[in-house]
Amino acid sequence: MRVRKLGVLTLAFALILELTFGKFLVEKNNLKVTSPETIKGVYECAIGNFGIPKYGGTLVGTVDYPKSNHKACKSFNDFDLSFKSKPGRLPTFVLIDRGDCYFTLKAWNAQQAGAAAILVADNKIEPLITMDTPEEDKADSDYLEKINIPSALVTKSLGDSIKSALSDGNMVNMNLDWTESVPHPDERVEYELWTNSNDECGQKCDTQIEFLRSFKGAAQILEKGGYTQFTPHYITWYCPEAFLVSKQCKSQCINGGRYCAPDPEQDFNKGYDGKDVVVQNLRQACVYRVVNETGKAWMWWDYVTDFSLRCPMKEKKYTKECADEVIKSLGIDLKKVDKCIGDTEADVENPVLKAEQESQIGKGTRGDVTILPTLVVNNRQYRGKLEKGAVLKALCAGFQETTEPAICLTEDQQTNECLENNGGCWQDKDANITACLDTFRGRLCECPTVQGVKFVGDGYTHCKASGPMHCGINNGGCWRETRGGYTYSACHDDHSSGCKCPPGFKGDGVKSCEDVDECKEKLACQCPECKCKNTWGSFECSCGKGLLYMREHDTCIGKFGATKLSWSSLWILVLALAAASLSAYAIYKYRIRSYMDSEIRAIMAQYMPLDSQPNTTGPDHMDF
Ligand SMILES: *[C@@H]1O[C@H](CO)[C@@H](O)[C@H](O)[C@H]1NC(C)=O
Ligand SMILES: *[C@@H]1O[C@H](CO)[C@@H](O)[C@H](O)[C@H]1NC(C)=O
Repeated sequence: MRVRKLGVLTLAFALILELTFGKFLVEKNNLKVTSPETIKGVYECAIGNFGIPKYGGTLVGTVDYPKSNHKACKSFNDFDLSFKSKPGRLPTFVLIDRGDCYFTLKAWNAQQAGAAAILVADNKIEPLITMDTPEEDKADSDYLEKINIPSALVTKSLGDSIKSALSDGNMVNMNLDWTESVPHPDERVEYELWTNSNDECGQKCDTQIEFLRSFKGAAQILEKGGYTQFTPHYITWYCPEAFLVSKQCKSQCINGGRYCAPDPEQDFNKGYDGKDVVVQNLRQACVYRVVNETGKAWMWWDYVTDFSLRCPMKEKKYTKECADEVIKSLGIDLKKVDKCIGDTEADVENPVLKAEQESQIGKGTRGDVTILPTLVVNNRQYRGKLEKGAVLKALCAGFQETTEPAICLTEDQQTNECLENNGGCWQDKDANITACLDTFRGRLCECPTVQGVKFVGDGYTHCKASGPMHCGINNGGCWRETRGGYTYSACHDDHSSGCKCPPGFKGDGVKSCEDVDECKEKLACQCPECKCKNTWGSFECSCGKGLLYMREHDTCIGKFGATKLSWSSLWILVLALAAASLSAYAIYKYRIRSYMDSEIRAIMAQYMPLDSQPNTTGPDHMDF
């Protein structure tokens, strides 16, 4: 069973696999048959590695062995079978035979038909094994996530006894008991999560990140209350000596082949390498150590969830720079973290990773850790879904009754994590706007919407108002200043977002806009007779000699609308006008005279004929 699971680790070379073969413990719980008398007693069964075991609880039910579809490889719908218990009846545990299809498919079919739990009867005589989920590529894993009934494997002999009791017409009742499946040695629950900073491994990684995000709130409450001691762990492998100079080891290992992780995309030539993952894992382990030292171990949860949000591989931000930003925003001592990481290129041991490798090896009741993610509660491997409710139940089962913290009884106890350091999120103290959102999953850094104005940004280092109304709020996060009755702003309602200094200013528009000295920079008012004076946001230009400054043309003109040049043309015009009137007068005089001449001549003609004189003047001249 385990060998198949190892495929998930996707190791590049087989030799490393050797290391991961080890002790795997089957987690067992008790099954108590209460009737009939003939088979009454306590039996062992093995908790499945899927579904949700009822940690700390007991489930009472009556067993049904279906008439057909014994192996539950088909939907019970096709056989018109249902295990839904009617009101007042005990829930149904359906007994299924092992074989022919995946355990998970059997469980899913049983759940679909209304069973409260599934018991799988082994088909050969052997020690109990852990039923596991199939590898992702081998089965349609859609339903895997949806299995929520507990499952247990029972021995062939118990299966046979139950079947014969049922066929004799007996009612078989039993209790499935998980109260002892988590030991509770003291008032504190110790638990470990074997995890990974890799976020590009498909569904496994997504489930893990989703779990970290959803469980964070509960984990932090438990840790702050001193109810739990949580330790994160990271699996690494060493490079076998024969491969030290190979390309694989060079790209997957740090510290001279001592600590390796598989390549995230399983392609040595693209994306991030295994060694990038080892370094980020080491950084997470170091962050834990640094915050644990100051008694704030729960901050690890903030770091890893923020890191997964802010520094994903997909966005090519899986880098030291991005990680350091997160560390700084949470107020964690970056120097200490760097010191803990040490020189990853050097051919030396790293004490943190060395300790991690040592704790991979199983001790006491815990087997070797070979699967990621793995949760270990009070030194027992946890079986079941990596999901908030289920894990919380398992942790709570680790407390003696009456010593359990309140969160075990009422799931959603709240503390406001935004009160401290604003949760490491962006805020504008002056405007009293914050990106910190206190939710039941712990705090989120999300840019807010204030008075209908949406803020956009990463929520950690920046948020900016956007949309048409954004200048109304805190001036859209832009510069704005009033001096001597004048107000200038770098926010523009027509811009979707972003700040831009108004004309006459230069700068980033966010923190500052500096006045531009138009005079010094020779941007305006440059005519020879101009006098330039800079003002805040503008300039004043005067022209002297009674001239006027025209701002839009950046030039000086005369007060009466003519420029200096046109004076001469005016004189010419005046002279021309004078000349014109003079000549008109001359013509007039001449005409008058000619008129009088013709009149006289006409009078005289009445007295003496002037035949010899051509009649060049006449009444036709009268129209003058
Ligand atoms: C975390 O701190 C506790 C107590 O302060 C200590 O017992 C434990 O060993 C520390 N864990 C690590 C991994 O340093
Ligand atoms: C900031 O806003 C919150 C709620 O929006 C309010 O409770 C708090 O008193 C405000 N603080 C200041 C300093 O205005």
